[in-house]
Amino acid sequence: MGNLLRVLLHEKPERTPIWLMRQAGRYLPEYKRLRMQAGSFMNLCFTPELAAEVTLQPVKRYSMDGTILFSDILVVPYGLGYALEFVEGEGPKLEQVNNQLPVFNQEPFFERTQNIFKTVSLVRADLPDFSTLIGFSGAPWTVACYMLGGKGRDEFVTARQRAHVNPEFFKALLQVLVEATAFYLGKQVEAGAQVLQIFDSWSGLVPDELFAEWVIKPTQAIVSRVKAQHPTIPIIGFPRMAGKYLENYVSQTKVDAVSLDQTVDLTWAQKNIPAVLQGNLDPALMEGPPAPMLEAATRILQTMHKPFIFNLGHGLTPAVPPENVAALVEHVHGYKG
Ligand code: CP3
Repeated sequence: MGNLLRVLLHEKPERTPIWLMRQAGRYLPEYKRLRMQAGSFMNLCFTPELAAEVTLQPVKRYSMDGTILFSDILVVPYGLGYALEFVEGEGPKLEQVNNQLPVFNQEPFFERTQNIFKTVSLVRADLPDFSTLIGFSGAPWTVACYMLGGKGRDEFVTARQRAHVNPEFFKALLQVLVEATAFYLGKQVEAGAQVLQIFDSWSGLVPDELFAEWVIKPTQAIVSRVKAQHPTIPIIGFPRMAGKYLENYVSQTKVDAVSLDQTVDLTWAQKNIPAVLQGNLDPALMEGPPAPMLEAATRILQTMHKPFIFNLGHGLTPAVPPENVAALVEHVHGYKG
């Protein structure tokens, strides 16, 4: 069993496991080659042989302890029937939800997403034993942000407005996403995913009095549905920029582990959060000279007293030199506490 899975199962790892969000992507020359060959991001995601190869690139290059499925959180709205494309240099273009709720039916959803599960099986068959296969989805709040309109750049003001103006509609939308996402994650486990991560990248935008309603409850519902089918599957939650809500998020969603962004004080987290911790090197350090990056990594390793999963506070960016990632992985693997 790999060290990442050991940490999640509360067994002693041989060394600190590491993987990085967005570890497969545009900073890797071998990714850019396959991305060109595929023509579009969607074609890359939905061609199992290509998606499996991209998924495995970081484990081949760096011996990552975690191998995250190559896909995107917007595959769930795509599965619900919405048009999706990724425009070069602009990001995702997702067909917007009008005033009609999406409907979740297992058969058509499965039909539209089945190639993702084929990728999971292909990767699992080729994955070395030391690495753990991580399936994922977005959390309903973050996925709803993209479905209702606006952009990360404008902090999804359109989506937030629509959620406030029509709370009943929004609640029903979150419920559809709970059902579709739980099904989608369950299928990834059946295909061979060994761990799941739920990305709530925009949870930091939620108003105080609505955090429980928009973030915690839908995530809790997904965790409980997935665990009803797959009781032993470890689930990592990533409520980015959730700050003071982290304790409630962990105790109420019942995730096994929580990924921390770079704003979280690790000493505080170790004292107050009874879950496995993952994080939280500032991704900004990854683009620069290696010395400050490695010093910051050492501070994290020295601060953590219990087994944890080394990761970034958010994803790798396209300008990161691949040698920096190699140096970081070597540094974490070589650390003797
Ligand atoms: O290596 C991995 O982490 C696995 C693959 C992965 C991708 N997207 C591939 C991708 C994962 C886990 C995601 C999750 C995702 N997608 C999130 C949650 C994590 C986060 O970053 O906060 C979100 C919010 C999205 C939505 C999304 N997808 C955006 C906003 C963009 C455009 C911005 C960008 O970075 O390009 C994407 C596109 C995307 N998803 C790319 C990749 C490799 C780049 C597209 C390309 O190669 O043309």
